[in-house]
Amino acid sequence: MIKKIAVIGTGVIGSGWIIRFLAHDKKVIAFDKDIRLKKKIILEIKRTWPYVKKLFNKKKLNLKNFKYVTSLKEALKDADFVQECAPENYILKIKLMKMIGKYSKSNAIISSSSSGLLPSKIYSKCKNPSRTIIAHPFNPVYMIPGVELVPGKKTKKNILNKANKFYKSISMNPIMVKKELPGYLSDRLQEALWREALHIVNEGYATTKDLDRAIEDGPGLRWSLMGTFLTFHLAGGKAGMKHMLEQFGPALKLPWTKLKAPKLSKKLSSRVIIGTRNQAKGKSVEKLSKIRDEYLVKLQKLRKKYEDKIRK
Ligand SMILES: NC(=O)c1ccc[n+]([C@@H]2O[C@H](COP(=O)([O-])OP(=O)(O)OC[C@H]3O[C@@H](n4cnc5c(N)ncnc54)[C@H](O)[C@@H]3O)[C@@H](O)[C@H]2O)c1
Repeated sequence: MIKKIAVIGTGVIGSGWIIRFLAHDKKVIAFDKDIRLKKKIILEIKRTWPYVKKLFNKKKLNLKNFKYVTSLKEALKDADFVQECAPENYILKIKLMKMIGKYSKSNAIISSSSSGLLPSKIYSKCKNPSRTIIAHPFNPVYMIPGVELVPGKKTKKNILNKANKFYKSISMNPIMVKKELPGYLSDRLQEALWREALHIVNEGYATTKDLDRAIEDGPGLRWSLMGTFLTFHLAGGKAGMKHMLEQFGPALKLPWTKLKAPKLSKKLSSRVIIGTRNQAKGKSVEKLSKIRDEYLVKLQKLRKKYEDKIRK
């Protein structure tokens, strides 16, 4: 049974994991190179609690389960499970995983939150790599249920199964990736959309706001209930995907996409930064996060009612 979890790195993602773990009565021992973050995290736990409480139907926040320590060794010594959340960088993660492997219990599962790095590479110097995995979450981790579990070449099947069970026990829906690939699944899809959007902004066909509306008022509304394949199946009418492929198959040969990213010139960067700043209408990231969190609670409650009708 996984009870004690060490969270290493307590920035955006680390603090999200801490909140989710605490909401599911786990004991959390956190460490960050920047020890000043402790205060910030307590504030973040308190800020998000009203939403977390509603989403998971919880009554009480038990801050006694949370400990912030000032050394990596101390964070790891009793942990059953390690959730690494340091910056996305091969050199840094390889070094850190070597230390984590050294100081953690030999049977502790080590999980990295990486967004797209190859597990076999980041765990290349880690002791006993058969107990290592990637668990790629989505921001905000305390709200979004998806998590991609990616095995490295040396990961044992039973570790993947244990991790799958563990993430399910904290109200997540693990997506099991069959074998490691750069960018995993969701970020590859998001990256394709992102690169296409940057081309459109770069070439002046639309503003950042127009492109966001093209998702928010279109496919985005459907996507949280049905992904691309199921959505297109419905778009094919009675014959479903078969008709869809007959009708839109030829479009695969049309110049509807150019996946290579455009050069991130100063002009393109400032178009994107100014465009999104205008969209925020002076609201801080914190204010927008509050609006998003409130929305995500309501949306997930609503979705639950409908998804069972499709999935069962
Ligand atoms: N931000 C996202 O939307 C997102 C989503 C999914 C996954 N991720 C992944 O999560 C990981 C963390 O990303 P983030 O956005 O939280 O970054 P972040 O910059 O907000 O936080 C990283 C934290 O790690 C700390 N750190 C740096 N070196 C360390 C070390 N050696 N030991 C302990 N702590 C150290 C930093 O002080 C910082 O607080 C990355 O691998 C990233 O790809 C990010």
